[in-house]
Amino acid sequence: MSSVSLNEKIPNNVDLAADRRLRRALEQWQPGFLAWWREMGPDGFQANDVYLRTATSVDASGWAHFDFVRMPDYRWGIFLADPDPERRIGFGDHVGEPVWTEVPGEHRNALRRLIVTQGDTEPASVEQQRRLGHSCPSLYDLRNLFQVNVEEGRHLWAMVYLLHTYFGRDGREEAEALLQRRSGSEDRPRILQAFNEPIDDWLSFMMFTTFTDRDGKFQLLALAESSFDALSRTCRFMLTEEAHHMFVGQSGVARIVQRTAELVRQGKDPRAEGAIPFDMLQRYLNFWYAVSLDLFGSEVSTNAASYFGGGLKGRPKEERFADHVLFDGTTPVELLEEGRLVERQVAPRLAVNLEVRSAYVEDCQAALDKWNRLVADLGVEFRLPSQRFRRSVGTFAAGCFDPEGRQIAEEEFRRRAPEWLPSEVDDAHVHGLMAKPVTEPGKFANWIAPPARGVNAQPVEFEYVRLNEG
Ligand SMILES: [Fe+2]
Ligand SMILES: [Fe+2]
Repeated sequence: MSSVSLNEKIPNNVDLAADRRLRRALEQWQPGFLAWWREMGPDGFQANDVYLRTATSVDASGWAHFDFVRMPDYRWGIFLADPDPERRIGFGDHVGEPVWTEVPGEHRNALRRLIVTQGDTEPASVEQQRRLGHSCPSLYDLRNLFQVNVEEGRHLWAMVYLLHTYFGRDGREEAEALLQRRSGSEDRPRILQAFNEPIDDWLSFMMFTTFTDRDGKFQLLALAESSFDALSRTCRFMLTEEAHHMFVGQSGVARIVQRTAELVRQGKDPRAEGAIPFDMLQRYLNFWYAVSLDLFGSEVSTNAASYFGGGLKGRPKEERFADHVLFDGTTPVELLEEGRLVERQVAPRLAVNLEVRSAYVEDCQAALDKWNRLVADLGVEFRLPSQRFRRSVGTFAAGCFDPEGRQIAEEEFRRRAPEWLPSEVDDAHVHGLMAKPVTEPGKFANWIAPPARGVNAQPVEFEYVRLNEG
């Protein structure tokens, strides 16, 4: 295993000590990062001790170390999965050749764009979530929020390391710009739209970590296939952290479902009891699923085709497929052309986005299946809306569709939107429930069930965030 240097200013397993120029460049970027964290990181909790896990090595058994730490003192480090000296390019025009240890000139711009786009989502999500602490349903949940936040900060470090190491001056400028853009800002927004949507209630946060962090998982899986080995190794380690973010979302929604179901079984009205009714949950699900589908890009994409052909970005778990070149045959793609749905046959490389998205949809359905098992006795079933529903990117953005995927007039869509998407009434209800934070150890807000177990074998009533000092 590559050795880990924890005592340095920037913990790392990339032997930063041996590369003075790079170390200096990153040490110069660090104060800007910390200033960004203080300005845009979790609002109001910077001085509190939080029970956090920190990456201290990359081997599966022992990479996470748990302790109390103030967030600005978190040890954001640079960790890459160990190199595999035998690794070969797994797809595209160069399949079978050795992977790249440097960035080939012809792919420099495209790789930089992929890394910047991924990197931009990391600080963006921290910005989106920065006020949530004030309405937390428990110390357990508050700690989970902060864990996700510091790890997104570390993911930013991971991408900035690549920019500084492999992209020279352009890379340094991009690393600066990652600290300048702001989620939701008019003049310098974050790159992708889902990361400009505000997240100021915990239901949205848990839907976001279920659906949007899951998009993150599939993007990282696709980049983990990259011929650019440093990118692949970076993403492979990020995936270990991403799994926890999806756990926070999926188990969080499950606990909301569980609480609502409890009330329904007692013959009570969840809305009147200060919980979240099933139909409201479905509307938040519809919204966050649809904006997350947009992150996969257009169904037919020449960019995706050239990323695939060039070996820059593959399909998640490329080894599952028989054909790694995608030269022969055609792939059927549904498109909206002049207002009509048609099926077209396209060159398979052009449909790579759709292939990645299909794997994502399957994974989302698995999450819903778990929620549905909790309410099977009540005859309730959560459903993924049609992939045509409420899209802003890709072929379906040009039309209006209901959640079943039926094409409808714009007027009908607008009139029925409150049935399908979070309305102002929903928003007011959800915010009303969360007006007061619950911060007594072991206590939980009325709208969510306690988790089955605590963090790292600690009890559920453990004081995960110490609010009384600082
Ligand atoms: Fe991330
Ligand atoms: Fe994440």
